[in-house]
Amino acid sequence: MARRVWLLGGSGKVGGHVARMLAADGIAVTTVSRRRHNPGSPHPHVSLDLAAPGTALPLGADDVAINLTEATTTDHVLAILRQGATLLETSATEEYVLPTRDAVRAARPPGTLVDCVGVAPGLTNLMAHELVRTHPGIRHLHIGGELGLGEHAGAAATRWFLDGLGARTAAKVNGTWQEVPTGSFSRKFAFHPDRPARRAIAYPFVEQTLLAEDFNSGIDTVLTYLALSPPWITRLLSAGLRLGAGPVASRRAESLTRFLMRFPPLGETSTRIVVEGEDHAGNRASITLETGEQSRATAAIIAATARAVDPMRPAGLTTIVDWLTVDDAVAALKDAHPRTRLARTAVDRTETAIPGKIPNGVTP
Ligand SMILES: NC(=O)c1ccc[n+]([C@@H]2O[C@H](COP(=O)([O-])OP(=O)(O)OC[C@H]3O[C@@H](n4cnc5c(N)ncnc54)[C@H](OP(=O)(O)O)[C@@H]3O)[C@@H](O)[C@H]2O)c1
Repeated sequence: MARRVWLLGGSGKVGGHVARMLAADGIAVTTVSRRRHNPGSPHPHVSLDLAAPGTALPLGADDVAINLTEATTTDHVLAILRQGATLLETSATEEYVLPTRDAVRAARPPGTLVDCVGVAPGLTNLMAHELVRTHPGIRHLHIGGELGLGEHAGAAATRWFLDGLGARTAAKVNGTWQEVPTGSFSRKFAFHPDRPARRAIAYPFVEQTLLAEDFNSGIDTVLTYLALSPPWITRLLSAGLRLGAGPVASRRAESLTRFLMRFPPLGETSTRIVVEGEDHAGNRASITLETGEQSRATAAIIAATARAVDPMRPAGLTTIVDWLTVDDAVAALKDAHPRTRLARTAVDRTETAIPGKIPNGVTP
């Protein structure tokens, strides 16, 4: 078990939940962020701008740092790992995660990086790996997340969502890498066991790239999608993106974040993930998860990973699948949200017809 957990961004929404969960297990927590104090928190707080060059935290080799900021420079990440500590990375941003991976591969520090820690990426990676392991014929993976707007995400997570609206990310589709602008196509997912399938739009989560690399030639397609609940917001978003609003929203992400944070929460407080796999014959298998408030669910998985990491295990670049199983993650989610449900299904193509506007050839 970690000697001390340093929560980089511990004064934020997800960080507050993680701090409470780890402290309840008797783990010593220190929060780190730019503000001078972390009001209402019983934990020691370090005031530090993690984006500034030359910043350093005095970590011990069995300490764990959890990064909830997307502000740390690559030098700072390496400084943590050179002290032999473990760093849990929660970012879903490709431009942030890929250079961090490259730097760790090149520098080979003694510490351990665990990336893709959270719900998406994180739980999505665990579900995709389990699906491919248990259904080796799968060639196409479609990963859909539905976020209920009954809870405000933190400012950093809202900003990340807006930044992604203008993205033109590369994705592997039918064996070739293609540029996929956000919202350029959609697909329906059975997010709810007892309601009609809901449309989700193409949206670039980092696992779209990482899972395609993990599975390499074994998988032809990895695409990630986002839906918002209530579903009319997804339809509105999709229409706006078709009219070219994505790059504008990205450019104005900072002011739009402030604007959206003032809106009242809307609809249900829920998080749903569907990972759907399809083989060459069109047979499908899926894992579907339903849980509660997104920031608390993210925190539950981060806390479970922090408990699982072992400084005695091999160092270097690892990901959440090296430390948790789907069942471990679901157990942690049930502690946070007792109504969490997981379903595993495998269906013959004759029994299923999930409609969707998807790129040519993704489905037979
Ligand atoms: N994998 C997943 O499923 C998942 C899901 C949701 C969120 N996340 C991750 O969690 C992060 C936090 O989300 P959130 O909803 O908790 O956002 P949030 O409430 O805005 O929290 C962001 C935290 O980062 C701190 N921070 C920002 N810039 C900093 C800097 N330059 N130096 C030091 N601290 C800085 C902020 O404090 P100050 O302003 O005081 O500095 C705050 O404590 C997101 O960026 C994302 O990477 C991951």
